[in-house]
Amino acid sequence: MYPSSALKILRPLSEARRACVQAPKPLVLVPTMGALHAGHTALLERARQLAGPSGTVVASIFVNPTQFGPKEDLATYPRPFEQDAVLCETHGVDLLFAPAPEDMYPEGFSTWVNEESVSLGLCGGTRPGHFRGVCTVVLKLLQICQPTHAVFGKKDFQQCAVIARMVRDLDVPVELVFAETVREPDGLALSSRNTYLNAEERLQAPALYAALQAAREAVAQGERSAKVLQTTIANQMSACSLARTDYIALVDSQTLRPVEVVTPGCTAALAVFFGKTRLIDNLSITA
Ligand code: PAF
Repeated sequence: MYPSSALKILRPLSEARRACVQAPKPLVLVPTMGALHAGHTALLERARQLAGPSGTVVASIFVNPTQFGPKEDLATYPRPFEQDAVLCETHGVDLLFAPAPEDMYPEGFSTWVNEESVSLGLCGGTRPGHFRGVCTVVLKLLQICQPTHAVFGKKDFQQCAVIARMVRDLDVPVELVFAETVREPDGLALSSRNTYLNAEERLQAPALYAALQAAREAVAQGERSAKVLQTTIANQMSACSLARTDYIALVDSQTLRPVEVVTPGCTAALAVFFGKTRLIDNLSITA
């Protein structure tokens, strides 16, 4: 597909740094935890577009232990590295950075990046420490690769907002690009965790997006009360016998502060458990 692509896999941090410094610019980074699916390959394609034929796309694959809670799925998180490398190669990646955990977090590691506003609610409320892990590893990846651009998926809406705030606050010289969520034909947002769903859960999982769409439709019909819209979403989810709602929120898309009255620039977001599998989704409801 990309005749110039001959994927170079880089493990030591020093090798990745050297390769990125020497690589033709623009240098576009796509940070991932692997288990790549069509949502990721859309990010890789976007990165290829941004880099152009003579620039460089670097993808990173690192299952970052510090963003998992003690009861989360770090040990079982899928790690199909060979398959991921093939997907990188066929989607125009030039450099694949796959560091070892002990190199990213050497003995005695004790410096953390804590965003203290945008990261507090939503997933930050129910996954304490998650965004500290995300900010720390993303800043490290940006420091090592020093890309001109970095691409993230909007499915992780809060992650995008937290990283944007970190990059602004710490004057990180990178242009952030947020790419649209890729969905299954039935509306389920693509996620590496979808593979954990059993057949019955998979049948019910599109309800997240359907509930968000119902809220957007209500706004289009004139509804402005966040409370009413939250109830609309909750009612839709309660029709799913296997779903346990973690949170439903209506927030300002930049600050992520909860709103009472919906005004332009509002996003509805939710997290739902199916068994142990936690799914998230979001939709701009005033668009
Ligand atoms: O979105 C992800 O896959 C991860 O949170 C990221 C940005 C790669 C950091 O580990």
